[in-house]
This record gives sequence, structure tokens and C-alpha cells, in this order.
Amino acid sequence: MPGRYILALDQGTTSSRAMVFDAEGRVVALAQRPFEQLFPQPGWVEHRPEDIWNSQIGAAREALRLAGITAPEVAAIGVANQRETTLVWDRTTGEPLGNAIVWQCRRTAARCDELRLTPAAHLIQSRTGLLVDAYFSASKVEWMLERIPTARARAEAGDLAFGTVDSWLVWQLTGKQRHVTDVTNASRTMLFDIHKLAWDDELCGLFSIPKAMLPTVVPSSGVIGETDPELFGAPIPIAGVAGDQQAALFGQMCSHIGMAKNTYGTGCFLLLHTGTKPCLSQQALLSTVAWQLGASPAEYALEGSVFIAGAAVQWLRDGLQIIGGAAETEAVARSVPDTDGVMFVPAFVGLGAPYWDPHARGIITGLTRGTTRAHLVRAALEAIAYQTCDVVEAMLADARQALGAGFRLTELRVDGGAAANDFLMQFQADVLGVPVIRPTVTETTAAGAAYLAGLGVGFWRDVSEVARIWQPERTFSPALDTDARQAAYQAWRAAVQRARSFPA
Ligand code: G3P
Repeated sequence: MPGRYILALDQGTTSSRAMVFDAEGRVVALAQRPFEQLFPQPGWVEHRPEDIWNSQIGAAREALRLAGITAPEVAAIGVANQRETTLVWDRTTGEPLGNAIVWQCRRTAARCDELRLTPAAHLIQSRTGLLVDAYFSASKVEWMLERIPTARARAEAGDLAFGTVDSWLVWQLTGKQRHVTDVTNASRTMLFDIHKLAWDDELCGLFSIPKAMLPTVVPSSGVIGETDPELFGAPIPIAGVAGDQQAALFGQMCSHIGMAKNTYGTGCFLLLHTGTKPCLSQQALLSTVAWQLGASPAEYALEGSVFIAGAAVQWLRDGLQIIGGAAETEAVARSVPDTDGVMFVPAFVGLGAPYWDPHARGIITGLTRGTTRAHLVRAALEAIAYQTCDVVEAMLADARQALGAGFRLTELRVDGGAAANDFLMQFQADVLGVPVIRPTVTETTAAGAAYLAGLGVGFWRDVSEVARIWQPERTFSPALDTDARQAAYQAWRAAVQRARSFPA
């Protein structure tokens, strides 16, 4: 029987998920397995490689069981993954060199601070589209090779393999046959030339990383191997791989220049499709590969992130303990007509784009004796929307340079946990002055991986066929007039200025 389903794996930072999609793009089954987060020192974050694999294969098998299907009914597997997280393992034994260094880990921050002051910073941005930061994989691999005894000699002898989480999963899935990564994941390593779509010799030299340990780079869509028959009882083609934010951009079918999505999670990840040429940012945003479909030219995106979004709501719950959970914030926020002048800038870890101020700190302004928890909750939700506006502003400035002075954002597609909050989505549309569209399938990361895999095996004919699957569930139209919108945004910017006045 030809496969009638696609299995999507969504290996995230805190849990591994697996979803079965049918040809209409409906989620038939979903399984999720959280795994342990390790914090061995302040600022360090690690995952056990075997936890990543065991939770992911466990979720995949459970999803098939819940869907009531077996391997022959699965046309293809697609993989989406937490990006930048770095693993190194022995090619022969499969033994990891140590724990995975997670994207959030700051252990190489000092090294990156130094590099930022050298001419290498410019080289890195122009070749990779990234800003020098410990976030990306290169300094993490360098750290492993320097700090783990015998690692460098083994890497130079060709005995070690480096990979981001996609590589690790595909290597395991294929019974240790394929050591690959896709162009989107490669574009997050700080070792990859996004213009030539190739590993960059000079950057590998800069971080002393032997090229022998790098995976082969493949397109995001197209068959790259088959699963070991032992894993699911029969082989399944692996035909799609992408970093999770790029997968979500594809899952939102932001497949034309100028289309953008925002994922509202702990932070926010905003990506704007910029076409088949990278658009290098003047606003300290990231340029990244959006995807490459088979032999077609790669497509690119600008990316900006908000560090603290849902995390501000978590702080209201865990830090201030003024709410029981995120689900109640909508009703609480709606119980007051406005914040009564309260502004909350949740710059708990400094500010990202467009401010890039690591010294900024969170503030709440405008408190009076009339301030209630409802005002604070409302201000926290509004801050998520305002911070998104900040990133959009920076993106528009870049996009106007690259795509023409008349460029305008016509809509913002949204997903992630907080996209379910109607108050927040309406406020977002109001302050952005752009319609905000929530799709019927909000599992956009897994959907994107499924679409890439389905296209890779001809399960879906082309992108236009997939685009028909994407359907809006609700459109939030801006309801504020321009003057009111600008006044609100100016008040936010003034509050941000105050958040930036902390001594270093
Ligand atoms: O760049 C990091 C990002 O890919 C992590 O995504 O959803 O696993 O937190 P998530």
C-alpha cells in the first residue's frame, strides 16, 4: 500500500514531538516526550544526546501507534529541530563526546566578545549572515575540541562527527549511514557560506574545526536516506529536514517574498521571506537560509527574535505569583479597559533587536495606587506585541533597502502557544497596523517538516498544492487609527529608553 501519511518529527528544546499528517494536512496523531534540561554551571545548558534520540524515537513510535498505522503506510519522514545545539560523536562507535551544548548555553560568550572586536566579525556577518554570538554552533564545537582531552587529535584523524540535532537524528534514523545536515541548519553554525551554500574554509580555520568532521549539506526537501528497518519494522524515506523556525515559516506557507511569520513561545521568532538572495541586515538582524527545495535555488529569510515573550507571563505566574497560568491572562487583561498608564518592559536578559543592549533590565513604569494585577497582566501581554513591533520595524528598514523603498508588510501569520490568546493577537494587529492571521493548523513547525518531506517524495506535487492546505482560522484586523497607534508605540519606546538607563 503506498504511504498515505507523513510522519513529522519536531525535536524542540524541551521536548521531542512527533505528528502524523494525512494528505489534507490534518494532524492525525501527536505524541510528545519531554526530556531533562541540564544546567551544570550558571549560564550553561546541556542535553544528553541519548535523551534527545530516545525521546524522539519514542514519540515517533507512539505517534504511529496512536494513528493506528505501520511503517509501510508512511510515505516519508520530515525532521524539524531546535537549531544551533551542538553534538560531536565518534563515527565508528557512535559514542557522543559529551553532552550536547544547547543553543542557549553562554559558556563561549567571552570568546565571542573577543571575536566581535576583530575583523573576523565582518567576515562572519558577510559570509554567514549571522552576528558573532555564543548562540551559534561554531564556538561550541571549538570549545569541545579544546576542552575535551584527545578530542582535537581524533577530529583531525577524521574519527569524530559534528552535527546539529538534525544530523544526530538522521544519523541515528539511518542506522548510522548518513552524516548530513540541511542548508537551514548549516546556516546556523557560523561556518557556512550562505551565498555559496558551502562550508567556509576560512571560518573553519578561524575556529580550528577540521572539515573532516562536518556533515554533508543537503537541500531541505528531497530523499536523503531511509530509516533502519529495525526502527519501525520497515524502512521509511527521510525526505525533509529544516531548523524549526524555518520549518514554521514553510508550515505557514510564507513562500513568497515579503511574507512573515511570528512564533510566540518563551521568546518570539519572527522570520520574513526575502527571496532567492540573502539580504544582509543593517539593523543587526540575522540573514538565514529559509529552505532549499531539491535542486531549486535556496530561498532566504531575515530573522529577529524577542528574548522574553511568554517568559514574561511565566514570571507573573512563578515570580510574582499573581496568575495561576497563561490561560487566564486573556480574561484578566480584558477585565480592564487599558493598562491605566502602566508599561512593562520585560528586559530580563537585556534587549535584542533593534536595541542590542545586554545591560538593559526589566522595568514596570506608571504605577499608581489604582494599579491592579489586571493592569500588570495586560501590560505584560502588550509588551509581547510591542517587542514584536520593534523587530518588525527593524526588518522593514532592512527589507526596504533590499526589496525597494515601497516595501510594506501586508500581513503577519502567527503561531506558537500565545497565538491562542485572542486579546494578544488583536492588540498585535492594532499596534502593528497590519492584519494578524492565525491558521487552522497551528502546529506549523511539524507541518513545515511534513510539507518538505511530502514534496520530497511527490506526496504533494508542488508548493501551490501545499499552499491550498494552509487555511486561516481567524484574521485579526487592526482597529486602531494611525494617531492612536503611533501614540501607543511612542509610549512604549519611551519606556524602553528607561529600561536602558541601568548602569553596566
Ligand atoms: O534557535 C533556537 C530555536 O530553534 C529553538 O526553538 O522551539 O525548540 O525553543 P524551540
